[in-house]
This record gives sequence, structure tokens and C-alpha cells, in this order.
Amino acid sequence: MKILVINGPNLNMLGIREPDIYGSETYSDLEKCIINKCSKLGIDCEIYQSNHEGAIVDKIQDAYGTVDGIVINPAAYTHTSVAILDALKSVGIPTVEVHLSDISAREKFRQFSYVSLYAMKTIAGFGFKGYEMAIDELCDCLLKKQ
Ligand code: DQA
Repeated sequence: MKILVINGPNLNMLGIREPDIYGSETYSDLEKCIINKCSKLGIDCEIYQSNHEGAIVDKIQDAYGTVDGIVINPAAYTHTSVAILDALKSVGIPTVEVHLSDISAREKFRQFSYVSLYAMKTIAGFGFKGYEMAIDELCDCLLKKQ
């Protein structure tokens, strides 16, 4: 089983960026947390980060036929990107959406997610732990499909 974890804009700035909201751990700490979780579950994992909407669309399209599931934190594109929503719908790969912060309790403009119109589940407000929860959720779903 192979999953793809996609992180959107500014998540590479974790540790520096608004630590009161996103915590003091770095992007490299997040990568380690994801790799550790996937190795415990015995699944292959690729982690991808981009600050560019089109690059994320390309990555989702490239996942067609090569990846069993996607975990995505689209970051700011969550609230704006019909293109990322359409890319996910195009490939039809099971997807769980994750956010470090609880977007439902933040500014009004963060409370709507285009990606949630496709994702099987949205996990928000649990920090790095949310990625582990998202990977568990995705694996459970993929195993049921086998
Ligand atoms: C975020 C929430 C978004 O609103 C924000 O633009 C981000 C990060 C989160 O993980 O909490 O960049 O997706």
C-alpha cells in the first residue's frame, strides 16, 4: 500500500510561522512524524510540499494509478482552490484532509474548505497527531476495500 502526503503553501515554514497557532516543531519534524507512523503501519509513503497551486494539481494528477490514498493539508488553498478539488475528483483517489489548527474555530474565511467537498474525512485541530489520525483513517478505509 502506498500513500501520498501533500502539504500546501507555508507549511515548510513550520517552527517559524505563527508558533502560537502552528506550534514550534519544524517541517522536518512533521516529515519524521509521518515517516515514523507509516513505517509502524508498514506502508510506503511519499511526502510532498509545494507553495504553488499548479504544482499540487500536477502532483495529484501524477498520483493516478500509482498511489492508493492521499492525505492532504492544502493550507491556504483549502479555502480558495477549485483546481485542487477538481484534481482530486479527477483521479478519484481516497483522500483524507488534515489541518494542524481547528479551522472551524478560526476566521470566517477559513471555515469553508473546497477539499472537504471531496475528502472522505477532515481532521482539524490536533497538530501533528492529526496527520497520524488521517493516515490511520485512510489505511482503515483502504484495507476495507481490499
Ligand atoms: C492550515 C489552516 C489554513 O487556514 C492555513 O492557511 C494554513 C494551515 C492548518 O494546517 O491549520 O496554512 O491548513
